[in-house]
Amino acid sequence: MEKIDSLLRNINSATRNIRLYPSGHPAIASQLSKTLQEIMELFKTNNRIFIGKTKDVLVFNETPIMDAEEKIGDLILHMDNKGVEGIIFEKGITNNEFSDFIDLLSGEESIKGRALQKKLHEKGIKHITLKSMSSGKKAIINVYNDAIDVVKDAMNEMRMGRIPKTEEVTSVVNGLTDAVLSNRDAMIGLTMIKDYDNYLYNHSVNVCILALALAQHMKYDKKNMLIAGMGALLHDIGKTGVSENIIKKSGVLSSEEWDKVKEHPLLGSQAIERMATMDKFVARIVLEHHIRYDHSGYPQTDNTNLHPLSMIITIVDAYDALTTLRVYQKPYHPTEALQILNGLSGKHFEPNTTRAFINMLGVFPIGTLVRLSTNEVGIVTAINKEDEEKPIVKVVFNNEGEKIEPPLEVDLSKEDENERFIISPVDPLSKGIYAGLFFEEEFGSLPINGDRKS
Ligand SMILES: [Fe+2]
Ligand SMILES: [Fe+2]
Repeated sequence: MEKIDSLLRNINSATRNIRLYPSGHPAIASQLSKTLQEIMELFKTNNRIFIGKTKDVLVFNETPIMDAEEKIGDLILHMDNKGVEGIIFEKGITNNEFSDFIDLLSGEESIKGRALQKKLHEKGIKHITLKSMSSGKKAIINVYNDAIDVVKDAMNEMRMGRIPKTEEVTSVVNGLTDAVLSNRDAMIGLTMIKDYDNYLYNHSVNVCILALALAQHMKYDKKNMLIAGMGALLHDIGKTGVSENIIKKSGVLSSEEWDKVKEHPLLGSQAIERMATMDKFVARIVLEHHIRYDHSGYPQTDNTNLHPLSMIITIVDAYDALTTLRVYQKPYHPTEALQILNGLSGKHFEPNTTRAFINMLGVFPIGTLVRLSTNEVGIVTAINKEDEEKPIVKVVFNNEGEKIEPPLEVDLSKEDENERFIISPVDPLSKGIYAGLFFEEEFGSLPINGDRKS
C-alpha cells in the first residue's frame, strides 16, 4: 500500500512539475525516471496498472484510493480536463513514453478524449492506454465532434487508397445511438450545424443522426439502428474517389462529370465490403442510397427490392442537403424542405418512410426559427407530441426586435401561453441567426444518459 501511495503522489507531482521546468531539465527528468522505477517495481506483482474510475470510485487496480483528492488532486484535474477516465500502464513502458505522456496529460492544449489517445499513438507511446469518459458522462457535442473526426479519418484513409477501420466507426455510431436514444431533440438540433467548407463531414454526421432518429421513430431495434447509422455515416465516403473540382463545382456538371459523381455509391460500398466485421447490409444500403423508390436515380439496377433502411438514408440525405447552403443553392427553411419531400413521396421516397419522417420532425421541426403572435421571434427546441403546432420555443428576439440574453423558454402548449402562438416561419439568415451555433451553445453540454431505452 505504501508503494502505491508513493507512486500516486509522485505521478501527481510530476504532472505539476513538468510545467515548471523547461523540457528535459535534469530535475524533472530524474523525478520522472524515479517514478517510472516505482511503476517497474509494481510490475513484479501486476501485469498492468490501472489508475482511474470504476463505478465512480477512484481506484488503483481494484483498490479504492483513499483521500484521492488530497493525494492526487492535480492528476484528477488533468484527467477531468482531458476527458480521461482511466490510465493503463503496461509492461515495457520506457522513460520517453512516460515523460511524453505526462507532458501531454498536463499540457494546456485542448487535445482531449479520443484525440489525446491518437496523439499518444502518433508519439509512439505503445504501453500507455487511456480509457475515455464513458458515454454516460460525455456531453453530446463531444460525441458530435468525435463523429466528425471519424468521418474525416475514414475519408482520408480512402484518399490514401486504404480501407477505413471498422472499430472507430462502430464505436462512434454506438455513441451517437445512445445520444439519440437519450436526448433526441437536442441531437436533432445539432444537425443544424452546417459547415460550408467541410460540407461532406458535417453532412455525413447529420445524416447519421437523422437516420438514427428516424429508425428509432419507425421502431427499428437497436441492431438495425446501428446498421442504418453506419450506412448513414459512411454513405458518401465514395465521394473521395471523385475529384474535388467536380464535388465543389458551382455550375452545371457536364455529362462526364455527372457519370463520375454517380460512381460514388458503388465506390463507397466496395470499400465497406472490405472493412473487417462490417455487417453486410451496411454496404448494401450505401450502394442503394441514390436509387430512389421509383428507381429514377442511380446506379441503375434490376433489383426492384430496395432495403427499407436504404429508404431511410435516401430521405434524410435529401433533407440535410436541402437545408444546407451550397454553392448552387440557398438553404431551404426546414418547413419548406419537408414540403418538397412530401411532394416527392411515392416518387423519390418510399411513402411510409416519408410519412414517418415528416411526423417525426413535426409541423415546425426542431431548429426552425418562428415568429410568434406577440411579434417575438424564437427557435423551436422541442416538439410537443400532443400538439405539434405548439412546440417549446426559446424566444431570442423580443417584440421590439431586440435580442434577449439569455433566451426565454416558452411552452406554447401551456394554458397560460394562450397569447403566444406561431404565426410563420422566419428566414434565419434575415435575422442573423445560425441555428447550429445556437444548439451548440444551448444544448451541446447536455450529458448523454448512459442507460439505453431499447
Ligand atoms: Fe450520396
Ligand atoms: Fe449525401
